[in-house]
Amino acid sequence: MRSPFQLEPARLIEVKRENVDTKTYTLKYEEAGRFREGFDPGRFVMISIHGFGEAPFSLSGLLGEGMFETTVRKVGNLTGRMDTMKVGELVGVRGPYGRGWPIREAEYKDVLIVAGGIGIAPLKPVIEHIERNRERYGHVEVLYGAKTPDNMIFIEQFDRWRKIKDFDLKLTVDSVPDRVAWKHSVGVVPLLLKDVKVQPENTVVLTCGPEIMMHFVVQSLLARGFDQESVYVSLERRMKCGLAQCGHCMIGMKYVCRDGPVFSYSELKGLPDLTL
Ligand SMILES: Cc1cc2nc3c(=O)[nH]c(=O)nc-3n(C[C@H](O)[C@H](O)[C@H](O)COP(=O)(O)OP(=O)(O)OC[C@H]3O[C@@H](n4cnc5c(N)ncnc54)[C@H](O)[C@@H]3O)c2cc1C
Ligand code: FES
Repeated sequence: MRSPFQLEPARLIEVKRENVDTKTYTLKYEEAGRFREGFDPGRFVMISIHGFGEAPFSLSGLLGEGMFETTVRKVGNLTGRMDTMKVGELVGVRGPYGRGWPIREAEYKDVLIVAGGIGIAPLKPVIEHIERNRERYGHVEVLYGAKTPDNMIFIEQFDRWRKIKDFDLKLTVDSVPDRVAWKHSVGVVPLLLKDVKVQPENTVVLTCGPEIMMHFVVQSLLARGFDQESVYVSLERRMKCGLAQCGHCMIGMKYVCRDGPVFSYSELKGLPDLTL
């Protein structure tokens, strides 16, 4: 039997620059038969490069045929090396791991997606899933914020998303440099919540971004009557094993790698070291 820790070689098929520090990488497993089931939106893979370490990254596109996308911000050792990768290079991949977004529970309900910064990456496959299965979801609203217009990612997808039936995309930035034209909102993401059309009774909320942003989003929605079991957040914690073995990612008794990274707010309430 194969070890769950075994790395599988995957080749870089395409690289796309999203903004100054973020790129989307399309990876394809070398051995076609090695493509496993379970590439669900919200789950993550561990990517390893010899000599540079290993880290978790969310799936940002699910392409089938042994291919997936991940969108990575350059912050340190491994992500710095990934930033220099050329098409054709190999990385090691294990996973996918964790529990993703509740896309089945959200069926036949309205969906509110709230994302900040690179937090839109694990939510892109949710939007694409809804696009492919439009009849199974109600009204969809996406609120997305970044520091400046130049920090936004997936801007090439926005026009297509806007054409999805009964779908609203609202954008905001913290600030707009003088030279940049910007016709959307200015201000932090939670400010966009005041204009959403969805109602608490029949809506599933999916949010990912800086913890402090998610704190204000969750508190504002709970105050408006949204149910804590219908509000889901994706958490980021330092990970080593990804498989509930090392304890690095633990918050209270929860393993973010195994029990999350997606949790309903009701599962997290009262856990230590969370700003939620
Ligand atoms: C479940 C999960 C999913 C994730 N998905 C993604 C994803 O889709 N895309 C993505 O880009 N990242 C994602 N991350 C974060 C990613 O794992 C880290 O950015 C990565 O570990 C950094 O590795 P490194 O070796 O480049 O940085 P290191 O060399 O380990 O760190 C260098 C410096 O960067 C700082 N740093 C590390 N991580 C971050 C961070 N996230 N933000 C700001 N500073 C940081 C460190 O504190 C340190 O100062 C995810 C994390 C988790 C837990
Ligand atoms: S990363 Fe090892 S227990 Fe979660």
